[in-house]
Amino acid sequence: MTQIFAHRGYSASYAENTMGAFVEAHKAGADGIELDVQLTKDGEIVVIHDEKVDRTTSGNGFVKDFLYKEIRKLNANKKGIKKEPIPSLIEVLEWMKTNKLLCNIELKNGLIPYEGMEDKVIELVRKYNLMDRIILSSFNHYSIVYSYRMAPEIETAPLFIEGIYMPWIYSQSIRAKGIHPKHSAMSDNIIINTMENGIAVRPYTVNKDADMNRLFNINCTAIITDDPVKALRIRKPY
Ligand code: G3P
Ligand code: CA
Repeated sequence: MTQIFAHRGYSASYAENTMGAFVEAHKAGADGIELDVQLTKDGEIVVIHDEKVDRTTSGNGFVKDFLYKEIRKLNANKKGIKKEPIPSLIEVLEWMKTNKLLCNIELKNGLIPYEGMEDKVIELVRKYNLMDRIILSSFNHYSIVYSYRMAPEIETAPLFIEGIYMPWIYSQSIRAKGIHPKHSAMSDNIIINTMENGIAVRPYTVNKDADMNRLFNINCTAIITDDPVKALRIRKPY
């Protein structure tokens, strides 16, 4: 059965990349969550999509210029009633020990080359013994190769926006067990071929009914969606 990953948590209804959005995705019955990580000035791994805090929080400026204790004072639920801090990755991994969710950690190190990000994330995943429930993805494919070298026991998956030729060959060449394409970048046949070659396919960001139906019908490995509740409603039971 196609797994459902809640993109930035249940972000269709809750503030993205907050504990609230992750908890609600779990309550809704999602199989996993997807989240994005960046590094603070003092090297803490925090869960936020953009390099700057401006769009999603009450603050302004680059994540890399905040100390962890400073960034924690910002409100990441600025449209909601209840104030929510930007989560640390530690906080999310601790919470994951209380459930059975899968978690796709996207390393946001494409625009800012955060020194040592992969090592820090791997250290925490090992510390919490979550290696078999974590998938590391990135648009920075050097980072994917490096992560595999450092931690072959953790699944990796390159992200990409446009179509590539024989994606299973590419994935195998960088020792990735999965691939995370933009949902429109792979036809049914290419997805099926990729899965038949042993590579998991988890397209993003799948929000429309028709796109969900297409991927459920071919039993795609997983979808990454803002709306896990809708996806769960549409997913065909086997
Ligand atoms: O992991 C898939 C997706 O999250 C990648 O794009 O910009 O939403 O992080 P973005
Ligand atoms: Ca992401």
